[in-house]
Amino acid sequence: MKAEDRPVSELKIIGGSGGRALATLVARDLGLRVSQTEIKRFPDGEKYIRINEDVADQDVVIIQSIHHEPDELLFEYFLICDTVKDLGAKRVIAVLPYFAYARQDSRFNPGEAVSLRTVTKLIEDVGTAELYSVDMHQHRVERASDLFRIPVHNLTAAPLLTQYVKSNILLEKPVVVGPDEESEQWASVAARAIGADHDVLEKKRLGADKVEITPRSLAVRDRDVLLIDDIISTGGTIIEATKILKNHGARRVIVACTHPILAQDALAKIYEAGAEIVIGTDTVPSPISYVSVSPLIADAIRRG
Ligand code: R5P
Repeated sequence: MKAEDRPVSELKIIGGSGGRALATLVARDLGLRVSQTEIKRFPDGEKYIRINEDVADQDVVIIQSIHHEPDELLFEYFLICDTVKDLGAKRVIAVLPYFAYARQDSRFNPGEAVSLRTVTKLIEDVGTAELYSVDMHQHRVERASDLFRIPVHNLTAAPLLTQYVKSNILLEKPVVVGPDEESEQWASVAARAIGADHDVLEKKRLGADKVEITPRSLAVRDRDVLLIDDIISTGGTIIEATKILKNHGARRVIVACTHPILAQDALAKIYEAGAEIVIGTDTVPSPISYVSVSPLIADAIRRG
């Protein structure tokens, strides 16, 4: 342990409904166990929260990935955070690996809610002292810390995803491609790790589930392409990108993403578009969450 490492033995780890499995893995990596909680519904649909653990004067880590049912899971986070504060917790450290609402960070059309601003405000106001997230979508801001008044750590899963690909897939003449300009940050990390070059496509979003990707000259013919992005939601982005890469003669398209939301039948459509395999992390539990972000989170918590 470095002198400045956080004394993890004094932490309490709580998993919300959106992060129970991950909380167990993170606790195990830290040599701890997950605190006992009861989370259920009253017959009328309201959430019931009970913390069966003494958290007084403790630093409490709440792990809650805000996926698929974002409103419910966010509200549950507020209840847990407020309860542990009320029970005397010293500091609440939020681990929100998938941070919902990050994409609605601006008023794109008149009258729209800037949802991200509301969500960050509520997270702070409920008493969160510090926040960890993984590949938080932040296309229009430089740093996640620009969005909050509390300390924020935006971790990236790109090295873990790349390591998984390196260990499990023999890539021939590899090249890494990001489906849009913003994905350059992950494509460049992955390319360095596998010793390949990288490129990005040009994307225009036409609607929530419709994107247009401009074909451009790409040196992918007869090469294995690692196509990497932060989120696969409807799959629209990855489907269009995969089709373009295949049309340009890519030998195989291996898809990797941090957050496999996989709304509706996104996964089937990506395979239909020609992808060989799709790999994601457990920030969002899914059939393709082959990579766990628990070591990333545990290390970051340990370093403080
Ligand atoms: C957007 O810029 C993100 O990086 C992803 O490309 C996007 O969220 C993926 O969404 P979908 O799968 O619905 O195209």
